[in-house]
Amino acid sequence: MAHGTSRIAGFYQLSPRERLAKVAEIAGLDDTGVAHFTNMGNIGPETADSMIENVIGTLNIPLGIATNLIIDGEEQLVPMATEESSVVAAVCNAARQCRESGGFVTDASAPVMIAQVQLVEVPNPEFARLKLLEAREEIRRICDATDPVLLKHGGGFRDLEVRVLDDMLIVHLLVDVRDAMGANAVNSMAEAVAPSLAEWSGGKSRLRILSNLADRRLVRARATWRLDQIGGKEVRDGMLSAYRFADLDPYRAATHNKGIMNGVSAVVLATGNDTRAVEAGAHAFAARTGRYRSLTHWEMDSEGNLTGTLELPMPVGLIGGATRAHPTARYCLEILGVTQAERLARIIVAVGLAQNFAAMKALATTGIQKGHMALHAKNIALMAGAQGDEVAIIADLLVQKGSVRVDIAESELAKLRQH
Ligand code: MEV
Repeated sequence: MAHGTSRIAGFYQLSPRERLAKVAEIAGLDDTGVAHFTNMGNIGPETADSMIENVIGTLNIPLGIATNLIIDGEEQLVPMATEESSVVAAVCNAARQCRESGGFVTDASAPVMIAQVQLVEVPNPEFARLKLLEAREEIRRICDATDPVLLKHGGGFRDLEVRVLDDMLIVHLLVDVRDAMGANAVNSMAEAVAPSLAEWSGGKSRLRILSNLADRRLVRARATWRLDQIGGKEVRDGMLSAYRFADLDPYRAATHNKGIMNGVSAVVLATGNDTRAVEAGAHAFAARTGRYRSLTHWEMDSEGNLTGTLELPMPVGLIGGATRAHPTARYCLEILGVTQAERLARIIVAVGLAQNFAAMKALATTGIQKGHMALHAKNIALMAGAQGDEVAIIADLLVQKGSVRVDIAESELAKLRQH
């Protein structure tokens, strides 16, 4: 953006169209570019403008459906929003291979979120810690009074923890947030109760915010892949060795867990939930022993089958935020058929486990590139300018040649058009 100033007074007060006109003028965007941004797809300017600030357009991400999943005995279709090829196919493949053994079994703790209140300049923190713990019922009263609706739905303040960190006191409010993601509910409680905590402790309150390490809101999924379904002992042993590598080495664990989050974040995004909150929680949880490790665990059962488990903090909701505001998210929830946040959380964790199975299997056998090639080749064909039927023709040619490169796609496209 080397064309003009970034200081645009009153920009936020303009409509999306007016903002776009300004940006187009400053950045030298042509009419085609302006027309592109003006089409706001299936959100529309009003919804987009009410969701974030300074809106000029929207960004479409492909939405695919993962098939073949059985979760807790129920057949389940799962919408996934992702820009990455192979992610949806991976879940379908993994889920197909464990259907014979019953699919995924899941479980969840209560949906308890943590809000933190930082107290500083506390003269005698250990003494103050006990005073605060004694005030549990008064704290409960203040917290619950901030959210009568949550209380009506069976949620609310559950417990209190107080930690001494150097000269600071850190208060954790544990709050059952039911079907909400819970950030708003617990942040409001932390702000409401902070002045009393400061007074009782003799210190001052500073930060009042939820923790994304939502380790009181854990969701688990497990599944068994029979030896005959996955291709025999060698595949299983290769996968177990891949898992050991990830669990022992943070360099590998980061990639291994990224693959899990390919599945997790795609469902979180499709349902309008907060991908960053879930990701931050997952990675912090992966490092909870002091070393960053694999989020999944893989073992062999007494019959030699491969078993996998995944346990993750899963702060997702069905009410509030984009989940309600974004029409696509609402329809995705309809496809999922979920009426409780807990079921959504369980589905997401099952998808994460499926994703990890597929990635490990590919890596331990043919390698990841083979599976990536077909879809990747389509992307490259599009990048080279292929349109309509040309896309599949060029993509096939690239795969046949075993070299999926834009320059080759461009020259093949030129040849195709000459004919
Ligand atoms: C690619 O997005 C994800 C993988 O790298 C995950 C993994 O290595 O396990 C394939």
